[in-house]
Amino acid sequence: PYVVTEPCIKCKYTDCVDVCPVDCFTEGENFLAINPDECIDCGACVPECPTEAIFEETEVPEKWAEYVELNAKLAGTWPVITEKKDALPEAEEFKDVEDKRAMLSE
Ligand code: SF4
Ligand code: F3S
Repeated sequence: PYVVTEPCIKCKYTDCVDVCPVDCFTEGENFLAINPDECIDCGACVPECPTEAIFEETEVPEKWAEYVELNAKLAGTWPVITEKKDALPEAEEFKDVEDKRAMLSE
């Protein structure tokens, strides 16, 4: 499956949601998580993300390895999101900020 990683935190542009054919994105306060049991590995969401936060599981950069498990865990409790909505107000400000892990609202 594909995995949402750190750059999404505090941005949540949601462009990814619009193209997913199987509606496997789930929504938290400031991050989205992909349900690994639903993702069909189409890759359509990858080029849509303005922060380049989405990777195929085996291509997730080492520094973000924990996001593989994290997507599965969070997607198990968060509601499904099927339509694009406005990005978070602070999205532009946090788009290129690094080390956002502690800012993730789980
Ligand atoms: Fe949805 Fe395809 Fe992205 Fe998986 S890879 S989350 S199925 S758009
Ligand atoms: Fe997040 Fe990128 Fe989707 S910022 S909400 S993974 S478009």
